Amino acid sequence: MENVFSEQLITLRQKKKLSQHALAQKIFVTRQSVSKWENGDAEPSIDKLISLAEILNVDLNHLLIGQQSTADLIMSINHLTKSFTQPVLNDVNLNIYGRDRIALLGSNGAGKSTLVKIMYNTIKADSGEIKRYINMRDDLNIMTQDDILISDLKLIEQIELSARINQVYAKTYIEQLLDQFRLRQVAHTYISKLSGGEKRRLSLVLSLMRPSKLLILDEPTVGMDLESIDLFWKHMDHVGGAVLTITHDFNQIDKYFSRVILLKDGQIKRDDRVSDIHAHNQTIEQWYRQFNRVLEAKGVES
Ligand SMILES: Nc1ncnc2c1ncn2[C@@H]1O[C@H](COP(=O)(O)OP(=O)(O)OP(=O)(O)O)[C@@H](O)[C@H]1O
Ligand SMILES: [Mg+2]
Repeated sequence: MENVFSEQLITLRQKKKLSQHALAQKIFVTRQSVSKWENGDAEPSIDKLISLAEILNVDLNHLLIGQQSTADLIMSINHLTKSFTQPVLNDVNLNIYGRDRIALLGSNGAGKSTLVKIMYNTIKADSGEIKRYINMRDDLNIMTQDDILISDLKLIEQIELSARINQVYAKTYIEQLLDQFRLRQVAHTYISKLSGGEKRRLSLVLSLMRPSKLLILDEPTVGMDLESIDLFWKHMDHVGGAVLTITHDFNQIDKYFSRVILLKDGQIKRDDRVSDIHAHNQTIEQWYRQFNRVLEAKGVES
């Protein structure tokens, strides 16, 4: 096992931009242990192998024998670039797996919405490749940052229309959705007359009404009152499949997500497991502030 494993470990560690020291810290071993594994002088125990696979975000086969199982891979983004008047994305690489619950974080203007729009194909990248292993029509649900609603329909009509398109139409189900998202009182209000928060809740209902293998939400809770935000996160606990959410709701990131990604200067600068961050006694907000600051300081230096 040593040769392939050692090579894989070096490659995957470097891809994650982790030093031997940083990797060692994450799995609670000495830097010398990592060095020995990479030189083929020693092998990690099985529990350390499992931790390594988690941190490097690969399955064990990939780590041990260099073969990646694509069974669980639902999207693979490679060397993606996109410029408008200025470069926005510059060599973005990301794999999304079937059970990921990813929070995509970054400052305003970092390119988060641009990245997800490229993922669900409403804008084209300038270069790079996206491999999609799901059916984009049947297996993907999205909620965009701007509500895309038909303003001269009544709320109930929009829900019924989407339910029919998504083949989940049933009267009792629609009633249930109205109650669950506290929309019954405005069911017969024209969409053009809804408040911002009500429109947001309606957009959510539309994106959550059918099951999906990948759910992408772009700032779902913005403009919602506290009660609606609580309802939303409660609902999310029951959502299956992979979830990628752009959010600044740091109160919830610690509780709900398994993986956090930091987009900055056009690249994914961090891609960490929430459990690792917690194991280092950090909250996600502390982690975010630390790396945003570190990266900003580096930007000033260079
Ligand atoms: N269609 C467009 N034409 C020109 N510039 C654009 C377009 N869409 C986005 N941009 C620019 O690209 C950059 C990234 O925008 P994007 O909306 O992806 O950021 P974001 O990370 O989602 O920010 P926010 O947190 O404010 O939603 C911004 O500088 C924005 O002005
Ligand atoms: Mg955005």
